Amino acid sequence: MATASERNERLQDQAGTLVDLLHRDTRYPPGSTVLEAGCGVGAQTVALARRSPGARFTSVDISADSIAEARRRAGLANVEFRQADIFALPFQPESFDQVLSASSWSTSPSRSPPWPVSAACSGLAGPSR
Ligand SMILES: C[S@@+](CC[C@H](N)C(=O)[O-])C[C@H]1O[C@@H](n2cnc3c(N)ncnc32)[C@H](O)[C@@H]1O
Repeated sequence: MATASERNERLQDQAGTLVDLLHRDTRYPPGSTVLEAGCGVGAQTVALARRSPGARFTSVDISADSIAEARRRAGLANVEFRQADIFALPFQPESFDQVLSASSWSTSPSRSPPWPVSAACSGLAGPSR
């Protein structure tokens, strides 16, 4: 079984490839709000938030260890990391302009089989924002 350090390293490697493949042209407008669901250790968060310094990111993960690691390494003023289960998020519908999720499948004990994390969060991005 992989150690936490090995898992973190794997996520960093994976994110480097995914950022270029998925987010090469991704820019969020200044003032916009973005929910990142299942941020892990923040590997993609850092790249995305640096590319959109005027956007405000709320990045959540169910793993307290991952959130602690993300906070330790990110150091970005436009990102708030929060430990939360995406099936019990403390946000109203349409609270965000955008919701993103990469490589995230819920392992929440309340949901079986696993759900795509993005599907659980779809109501949080709204047309009124
Ligand atoms: C494969 S990792 C991807 C992490 C990150 N998106 C990336 O690409 O580096 C999947 C993440 O989803 C998180 N996750 C799974 N179920 C979740 C849930 N119910 N609520 C919040 N996060 C969840 C896991 O803890 C894990 O960090």
